[in-house]
Amino acid sequence: MRVLGIESSCDETAAAVVGADGRVLSNVVSSQIQVHAPYGGVVPELAARAHMTHVMPVVEGALQPIEGGLDGVDAIAVTHGPGLVGALLVGMQVAKSIAFTRGLPLIGVNHLVGHLLAVHLREENAPEPPPYPYVALLVSGGHTALYDLRSPSEIEQLGQTRDDAAGEAFDKVAKLLGLGYPGGPVIDRLAARGDSTAFELPRPMASRRNLEFSFSGLKTAVAQHVAKQGAPRSEQKLADFCASFQARVVDVLARKSVHACQQQGVEDLVLTGGVAANRGLRQRARELCEKAGIRLHVPPISACTDNAAMIAYAGACKLAAGRQDDLSLPVFSRSPVLGEKAHLPNLRSIKRPREPKASRQPGER
Ligand code: KG4
Ligand code: ZN
Repeated sequence: MRVLGIESSCDETAAAVVGADGRVLSNVVSSQIQVHAPYGGVVPELAARAHMTHVMPVVEGALQPIEGGLDGVDAIAVTHGPGLVGALLVGMQVAKSIAFTRGLPLIGVNHLVGHLLAVHLREENAPEPPPYPYVALLVSGGHTALYDLRSPSEIEQLGQTRDDAAGEAFDKVAKLLGLGYPGGPVIDRLAARGDSTAFELPRPMASRRNLEFSFSGLKTAVAQHVAKQGAPRSEQKLADFCASFQARVVDVLARKSVHACQQQGVEDLVLTGGVAANRGLRQRARELCEKAGIRLHVPPISACTDNAAMIAYAGACKLAAGRQDDLSLPVFSRSPVLGEKAHLPNLRSIKRPREPKASRQPGER
């Protein structure tokens, strides 16, 4: 079985074809970093427009190496949320059109589930995937949370950030330091040459007992430091500052991930999402996992950042479990929890619109 995956939830237009065993047959990603860089963050309207421009060439690119093109594909998987609604709709309409005209099954995939299963993608240089159960730390620009995966469909959220995502903290701090967008890779690079003990910064929610995160206090401390003293001017001071900030973030991420494994009685930890590319995080997680006797799994960077291969694979798992969607599948911007019905709005919280007041007839009171 071969699944065509389409991803357009944020600032990457992506399509890929993946086998049911996770083998990646094609994988195309068109990044919009250049479009958003001048604004220091993703601009939803520009993202949707760029998806419109790129989605067809990207899908065609993913089908090109497949024998028979679309005839060689058995199902269409598409990200239906969480993400930017205008952006999601572009991928969704393309997926529905293909599914309808070709009579193929349509499978909606939660973007977060895609990230959590990305470690099973089989491509060159990819390490052996972990057995179930495993704990996964998902750290990206929009999400920071810990999950326990018992199978591709039994996923429990153990804790998440109360405010900013870790990637968001990297991006905002980079902006404060005048380092451009996206900030994670730049801070990572500078931090490698810096002294992480040079600056006193707060430890973000360091208590080991809970599995929640919070990065807004750390970001505020950086903002206050920059407001009082300005951004570090010399190359070395800037590197030291980045190293101090990064150490605070990666230490709490790695500690709580190991604690989550111990709490759940699980021996395998997976790092995934864009921030999993961070060398400091990989290093700190390696150290702590070694001490605790936990096996660490980090997918290749191309599988950690947004891509459609992870969506296609998650779709293949859902289809193998006998689940698929129909052409009325909606997109959704946020979901508080992962799960089958996570994308459905809480009907109790939807207020009925007020009945319009009947206009009074002359003479009525
Ligand atoms: O998973 P991803 O590609 O997109 C989202 O779903 O958000 O993650 C993007 C995020 C950005 O915030 C970016 O700054 C961060 O991942 N990032 C990094 C690194 N590479 C990307 N953060 C820290 N260190 C890195 N090397
Ligand atoms: Zn993502």
